[in-house]
Amino acid sequence: MPATHPRIRTTEEYHEAYRRSVETPDAFWAEVAEPFTWRRKWDSVRGGEFSPAGTSTWFDGAKLNITENCLDRHLAARGNKLALIWEPNDPKQRHLRLTYRELYQEVCRFANVLHNLGVEKGDRVCLYMPMIPPLAIAVLACARIGAIHSVVFAGFSSTAIADRVNDAQAAFVITADGLNRGPKQIPVKRVVDEALESCPSVRKVLVVEHLGWPVHMQEGRDVWYHDEAKDVSRSFKAEEMAAEDPLFILYTSGSTGKPKGVVHTTAGYMVWADYTFRNVFQVEENDVYWCTADVGWVTGHSYLLYGPLLAGATTLMFEGVPTYPDAGRFWEVIDKHSVSIFYTAPTAIRSLMAAPLDNVLSYSLDSLRVLGSVGEPINEEAWHWYHQHVGKGRCPIVDTWWQTETAGIMISAMAGITPSKPTHAGLPMPGVEPVLLTQEGQEIEGNDQEGYLAIRASWPGVIRTTWGDHERAAQTYFRPYPGYYFTGDGARRDENGLYRIIGRVDDVINVSGHRFGTAEIENAINQDPHVVESAVVGYPHDVKGQGIYAYVILQDGVPDKETERQRIEASVIETVVAEIGKIARPDKIQIVSGLPKTRSGKIMRRILRKVAEGETSNIGDTTTLLDPAVVDEIVNGRK
Ligand code: WT7
Repeated sequence: MPATHPRIRTTEEYHEAYRRSVETPDAFWAEVAEPFTWRRKWDSVRGGEFSPAGTSTWFDGAKLNITENCLDRHLAARGNKLALIWEPNDPKQRHLRLTYRELYQEVCRFANVLHNLGVEKGDRVCLYMPMIPPLAIAVLACARIGAIHSVVFAGFSSTAIADRVNDAQAAFVITADGLNRGPKQIPVKRVVDEALESCPSVRKVLVVEHLGWPVHMQEGRDVWYHDEAKDVSRSFKAEEMAAEDPLFILYTSGSTGKPKGVVHTTAGYMVWADYTFRNVFQVEENDVYWCTADVGWVTGHSYLLYGPLLAGATTLMFEGVPTYPDAGRFWEVIDKHSVSIFYTAPTAIRSLMAAPLDNVLSYSLDSLRVLGSVGEPINEEAWHWYHQHVGKGRCPIVDTWWQTETAGIMISAMAGITPSKPTHAGLPMPGVEPVLLTQEGQEIEGNDQEGYLAIRASWPGVIRTTWGDHERAAQTYFRPYPGYYFTGDGARRDENGLYRIIGRVDDVINVSGHRFGTAEIENAINQDPHVVESAVVGYPHDVKGQGIYAYVILQDGVPDKETERQRIEASVIETVVAEIGKIARPDKIQIVSGLPKTRSGKIMRRILRKVAEGETSNIGDTTTLLDPAVVDEIVNGRK
C-alpha cells in the first residue's frame, strides 16, 4: 500500500501550507517528497542558483525512476484499479480499459521492445503519435528505460518534426500508421517519412498499427511494434535515474523564431506534478478524471499522464475532438464513463457554446464534481456557461495558470477550498511566490495592482534548461529580471490578492491555447516564394482566443486582381501549414506595400495590432515613422 500523501483540505490548511512552503521550503518539500519510492534519498532539497543563472536543482543526490512511482508503487493496493480508460474517436468503436497491473505490463513490454532496438538511458526518442494507449505506454516506457522523450504534437508538419528531431539529435522515432481526428484521417507515418529525409540522427522508427493502413517501411530502419513485441517479457527493471537526469524535452514557442526544447528533470517534476494534481483537483480514490489535452502538449504530460498516474487515479484519454460526431461528444463521454473531474480549454468551451444548448442539456452530467480550465484566459461568458450548463452550478471551477516551463500548475484555486472567481486564476500554489513587476523590474506591492508576472523563488517544476543551449534559457527566463523567473505574462492582483492573467506581454500569441511566436510564423510565411517580408500580430478571436493576422509584402507588389490576391493568400497559408502545421494557419492575410517602421527600421507592432483589432480610430502617434502614409493604406485595406 503506497504511503498516503497528505492533501490540503481546508482554507486554513492552505494558508498554513503556503506559509510553511515559503518560510521553510526545504522542510516543506522534504515532507511532500517523503512518501514516494526512492532508491536513494536526496542530499539536499534545493540547490543551484535560481536566477539569474537558472541552474536550480531539486532533491539532488536522490535516485529513482518515475515509472516505479506511477506504476509499481500502486500494484499492491491498486493493481486491479483502472489506470487508463481510452475513448476512441468514433463513438461506435469500442473503448478500452487498462488496470494498473495491465498498464504496468504494457509499459514493461514496450520498454523491452525499445531496449531490444538499442534505446539506452539518455537517448532522445521522438514520439509523433495519435491519442491512443500506445502513446501513453511509449512515454512511460521511455521513462522506464531512462530515455528522454520528446513528444511532438501530431498536428505539426514534417518540417516542424525535422527541426525538433535534429535539435534533440533523436536516434529513435515512435509513430503510427495513421490517426483519426474527427471526420479526418491523417497518414502520420507518411509525415514522419518526409521529415526523416533530413534527419540523419535517426536510426530506428518504431511503428504502431492503429488504422491498419499500408505504409512504406524503410528496410533496416522501420519496424512494426507488433512484430517486435511478440515474445518480449512483461516485466522490465526500471533504470535508476538521478534526480536531475532529464525526463523529457518539450518544444514550445517563444518570442524568437525557433521553438526551444524545454527540459524537465526527474525528481522535481514528479513531486510537482503529483502535488499540484492532487491538491488542485482534490482527487479522491474513486474519481474518474478526464483531461482533454493532447499528450503533445505539457498539459497532456503533467495532467493526463504523470500527475494522475503518480496519484494512483483513473485517467481518461480521448482520441477525438469535441465536435465529432456532434457538439455533444464531450458530454456523452462524461456520462458514459462517469467522469467526475473534467479539465479542458476555454477554446473548446467557446466552440461548444456556439452549438445549440440541447447538445449539453440532453446529458445528465451527474457524475461531475470538479471542472478545470487551462491554456489561456477564460472569458466571463465561457466561465458562466461552463459553470451553469456543464457544472449545473454545483461544481467548482479551477482556472489553472501555468506554462510549459513551469511543468505544473502555479496559480489556481484548489477545488472547493480556495476562492474561485470568474476570469481569475486565484491564489498561488504552496511554493509559488508570484510578484508583479514594473517594466524596469521594480516589485509592485499591495493589492489592486497590475504588472509583469514573475516568480521570486525556485519551485520543484522550474524549467531546468533549454536543450543544448542553457544560455537561451537563462536569457529568456532568468536574466530579464535577476532574482526572478520571468513568465512573459501580464497579470492583475485584485483587492483580495487573487491573480488574474491578462495575457502575453511579449511577441507570443496564444491561439486556441497553443503558443506561437510571431517571429516563428513570420519565418514560415517568408518561405513563400511570393513574399519578401511579413509581420504577424494576434487579434481577439471569438473561439480561438487570439487569431493570427499576417501583413505581407510581396515580391511583385500589391496585385490588382482579386483572384490573384486570393491565389497568393492560399499559397501563403499552404506555406505556413507546410512549415509549422495547420494549427498555425493565419486567419487573415493582408497584402500591403509597406510596413510601418521607425527610422531605425523597427516594425511598429503596436500600430499593426491596433489595425488588426479594428481600433483604427485610435492609432496613436505615427510621426516617428519612416513613411506615415503606409498607415493609411494599411487602415484602408484592413481585413
Ligand atoms: C501560456 C503558457 C498551461 C499549459 C498549457 C499552455 C497562457 C495558460 C492560462 C490561464 C490565462 C493562461 C499564458 C501562459 N495561459 N493558462 N489559466 N489563464 N492564461 O502552456 O503553451 O506553455 O502556454 O498560456 O499566457 O504564459 P503553454
